[in-house]
Amino acid sequence: MSTFPATRLRRLRRTDALRALVRETALSLDDVVMPFFACPGEGVVRPVEGLPAIAQRSVDELVLAAGALASAGVRAVLLFGIPEEKDAEGSGAWNDDGVVQRALRALRAEVPGLTLLTDVCLCEYTDHGHCGVLDGDTVANDETLELLVRTAVSHVEAGADAVCPSDMMDGRVGAIRAVLPETPIVSYAAKYASAFYGPFREVAESAPSFGDRRGYQMDPANGREALRECALDLAEGADVLMVKPALPYLDVLRAVRERFDCPIWAYQVSGEYAMLRAAAAAGHLDERGAALEALTAIKRAGAGTIVTYWARDLATWL
Ligand code: PBG
Repeated sequence: MSTFPATRLRRLRRTDALRALVRETALSLDDVVMPFFACPGEGVVRPVEGLPAIAQRSVDELVLAAGALASAGVRAVLLFGIPEEKDAEGSGAWNDDGVVQRALRALRAEVPGLTLLTDVCLCEYTDHGHCGVLDGDTVANDETLELLVRTAVSHVEAGADAVCPSDMMDGRVGAIRAVLPETPIVSYAAKYASAFYGPFREVAESAPSFGDRRGYQMDPANGREALRECALDLAEGADVLMVKPALPYLDVLRAVRERFDCPIWAYQVSGEYAMLRAAAAAGHLDERGAALEALTAIKRAGAGTIVTYWARDLATWL
């Protein structure tokens, strides 16, 4: 082992060019996905306080924003929907004329180069805000599977390139795979019951009306269990494994990266975005610097691709 003064690690930090030559991790627009929230109506851009610069958009507005995003170099979006009406089953999720389905058809036609991913879950569509149908006070796993399958199929029929089940029911990947043999499945495999989803639930109007999601999403205290979730989803036919949230779970991301050879993604969630935005707005830190550092850390830990609300800004920053 060489030591000082023979070894001086500062030698390679002298210039921008030298630093770039030895940099281990790089952010690329190829590796980010931008979330979008489709809502009913026309000409609607409804911002939410907790998620600055992100908004609910009617399909026409969403097409404009996605077109601009694609022109700026971002290649993929993840679609969520806020339906006209909610019910106990979440039937708006698989409605052929639902917001996400209409957004998919419009985007297919108007922004042909863009890759369209959809979040497959019921929480935005159920009147109780849980991610599946209820049996008393608990979410009924097996009864929910059938509804998730219907939702995934309707997304694919409307033009989705890939589906992303985020509900955390056991067996959902296998159920979807059985009817969609050709569709890429990006599984939210290690998805935690996190406090960092707060601003998302504001924009997606999906906060549970009672209780919480700890009966189906993972306990933040568990790392090894994430590997079991991932192994099951891969065995059921998932193509991509996602870890969510990202920054507070870099250890999980690294462990998943080391264990599995498939693409590993991370979701830098709404709370991660909102807290840096709020600190920047208050003048306590530089948004660009902090966002780029957080995104780089997520890549360094093992994410190949990151779902991030900064995808649009990244197109300007890089
Ligand atoms: C749907 C879903 C959620 C998020 C993505 N898909 C919310 C939740 O599980 O309550 C959160 C994303 C974010 O916070 O940015 N189940």
